[in-house]
Amino acid sequence: MKIGIDSIAFSTSRYFFKLETLAAHRDVEFEKYSNGIGQIMMSVFPPNEDIVTIAIDAAQKAISRIADVGTIDLLIFATESSFDLSKAAGIYVHHFLKLKEECRVIEVKQACYSATAALQLAKSFVRENRDSKVLVIGSDIVKYSSGSSGEPTQGGAAVAFVVSADPHILIIEDGSGVHTNDIMDFWRPISENEALFDGKLSAYNYLKSLDISFNRYLTKTQRNISDIDCVCFHAPFGKMAKKGAQQIKWRESIDNTLLYNSVIGNSCSASLYICLMSLLDQSKTPLEGKRVGLYSYGSGSVAEYFSGIISEKYRSYITPEENQRTLESRKEISFEEYELFCKNLPDSPHKNYENTGTVRLKSIENKRRIYGEIKN
Ligand code: HMG
Repeated sequence: MKIGIDSIAFSTSRYFFKLETLAAHRDVEFEKYSNGIGQIMMSVFPPNEDIVTIAIDAAQKAISRIADVGTIDLLIFATESSFDLSKAAGIYVHHFLKLKEECRVIEVKQACYSATAALQLAKSFVRENRDSKVLVIGSDIVKYSSGSSGEPTQGGAAVAFVVSADPHILIIEDGSGVHTNDIMDFWRPISENEALFDGKLSAYNYLKSLDISFNRYLTKTQRNISDIDCVCFHAPFGKMAKKGAQQIKWRESIDNTLLYNSVIGNSCSASLYICLMSLLDQSKTPLEGKRVGLYSYGSGSVAEYFSGIISEKYRSYITPEENQRTLESRKEISFEEYELFCKNLPDSPHKNYENTGTVRLKSIENKRRIYGEIKN
C-alpha cells in the first residue's frame, strides 16, 4: 500500500525581524548571519500567538484540501515548545477544527525529530486502518537568550500534513536509517522559557548522526546515493543543512530547499517539512516520480534518514502562491518590539497585535489558556 503526505501547509507569525538589525545591535557583521549562518530574517511571535494558534492556521489550510475530513481518526501534535505537561496542545486544535469526537489526540516530543516520529507512527496507523487519515502537526517557537550565539537562529512555524493511503504529494518509502544517542547538545528544563545548548557539540552531533543514519539507510534499502534525486535536511539554520549536504557528498545545490527557512528561522519540528515545501514550490525542474532523501535530527538525540517518492500529480496539490503570500504579508518589527515579543512576554496576552489565522490566545486565567475566534 502507498502511504504518505496527501496535503501539506504551514503557518508562521505575522511579524518578522531582520537579522541585519540584530547584527547592528549585537555589533556583529551582518555577513556572519547571512553567509556564515545562512539566515536573513526570523519570525517573531506577539503575546497573543503561540504554538496552538499557528497550528490551527496550518491545520485549517491542510484539511481544507482533503475531501473527507471525517476520516481523520488520529491527530498527532509534535512539539518541544509545549506549555502543558498534561494536556496535549492538539486538543485545542481538534476543538477549533471541529474534528469528530471519535478522533484520538496525542502529543509527541523528541526535539526537532518529533514530527518525523509522528509521520512514521501515522504511516503504521494508516497501514492498519486503510480508510483512516492522520493529521500530523509540528509546531514550535524557538527562543535562545539575548546575545547568545543561538540568538540569530531563533524562529518558529507550524506545519500540518494529512497522512493517508494513495497520497497526492509524497509517498513515504519503507526502510530508513535511525541513530539515537544520549547527548546534552540542546535541552530546555521545565523551568526555562529559553533553550540551553552547546552549539559546537550540537553541530558535530548533527553531522555524526547524519553519517550513521544515512549509511544505515543505504545499507537497509540497498540503494546508492545516485538513486536519490533530491535532498532535504533539518535546517536549524541554512549553513547547517549545507554542511549536511557536504557531509554526504551531495552533488547539487540545496538552495531551493532553504528559501522559506532563511526568512522564518529554526522551526524545529516543522523545519524539515518546510524545507520539503520550499523544494516542491521552488524547484525549476519537474519532480514527478523523483526520490527525495530526508534527514530529520532532534537534539538529545534521535536522527532518521528516510525517503519518499514525489507523487505524479503533486503540482495540483501544492500551494506556492499561498506560501509566498504568508511570508510576504508579514510585517517588520523594530529592535524594541523584538525585545518585547521575545524576551519580556507579559503574562496577559496583548489584544492589539495582528494574528496569523482565525484563532488567538485571548487571555491566561488561573493558568488556563483561553483561545477564541477572531471577530473582525
Ligand atoms: P557562533 O559560535 O557564533 O558562530 O554560532 P561561529 O563563530 O562558529 O561562526 C559561524 C560561521 O560564520 C562560521 O562558518 C564562521 O566562519 C562564519 P563555518 O566555519 O561554520 O563554515 N563567519 C562569517 N562569515 C562571513 N562573514 C563574517 C563571519 N564571521 C564568522 N564576518 C552556532 C554558531 C551554530 C554554534 C550557533 O548559532 C548556535 O549555537 N546555534 C544553536 C544550536 C544549533 O542550532 N545547532 C545546530 C545543530 S543541532 C540541531 O539542529 C537541533 C536544534 O534544531 C534543536 C532541536 O533539535 O530541537 C537546534
